Amino acid sequence: IPLLDQYGSLADVEVVEETGSTNADLMARLHLLQAPVLRVAERQTAGRGRAGRVWRSVPGGVLTFSLAWRFRRQAQGLLGLPLAVGVAVAEVLLAQSVPVQLKWPNDILKDGKKLAGILIETSPVPDQDGGGTWTVIGIGLNLSIPHELEAEIGREVADAPWLAQMDRNTLMAHLLNALAKALQQFEQQGFAAFTGRWNSMHAYAQQMVRILDQGQIVHEGTALGVDANGCLSLLTAQGPVTVVAGDVSLRPV
Ligand code: ATP
Ligand code: BTN
Repeated sequence: IPLLDQYGSLADVEVVEETGSTNADLMARLHLLQAPVLRVAERQTAGRGRAGRVWRSVPGGVLTFSLAWRFRRQAQGLLGLPLAVGVAVAEVLLAQSVPVQLKWPNDILKDGKKLAGILIETSPVPDQDGGGTWTVIGIGLNLSIPHELEAEIGREVADAPWLAQMDRNTLMAHLLNALAKALQQFEQQGFAAFTGRWNSMHAYAQQMVRILDQGQIVHEGTALGVDANGCLSLLTAQGPVTVVAGDVSLRPV
């Protein structure tokens, strides 16, 4: 499947030795783009995580790339996108025998620790330019994490030595094929096409979790699963609640 968007444009592919952040690079150029761009960095010196956090990596140890992709949808219709991208990436990893699970809203876990993170930033396209939304879909995937880096991150993270041994070009090809398919599917059907797939890989199904908004606990309950919009259903002592994937975090209790 080619990296061809809904406007019939084929993605440009860029590979750079070093940059601050592939997400930041693409966000700064969005207004100039005529076609999707895939930007891969061998190393990032200022990787971005969600909520202003830092994403750390060492050259060769972490796959870091971003895809600038334009959707016909408004930002509101893209809330489930990080989850859909998670499904696509997780399915590739599972097919390579890496046992992964999904943590709502946007992480890929292995052995309960973070193996990959997804950061999606968006910018509306003005109506006179055809409307819709530009997204920058950033993915960081740990292949092989040295102890020093784990110490720097300050918590245990997962890596995938099995993938690190695999040809990185082959892995990238699998990821891009899966992404191209997922993005087309998302544009046409929204998150509904991913609900069952997401729930089948849910790391905390039927477990007690807390939802935090800027560090404050806003909900606590049993995590049931996601709905057709990518919202997480919880069963709390006060009854069922549905949490929208925004800048909230989830913690197992
Ligand atoms: P959330 O549930 O909100 O995603 P989180 O604590 O996992 O919570 P994120 O913003 O998703 O936070 O991810 C950024 C966090 O990931 C940072 O706090 C950082 O500690 C950690 N981190 C940084 N680099 C890596 C890496 N290479 N692998 C795994 N985790 C990392
Ligand atoms: C998170 O878990 O918080 C998301 C981490 C996303 C990291 C990737 S690495 C490629 C792209 N460029 C960035 O600066 N961040 C994303």
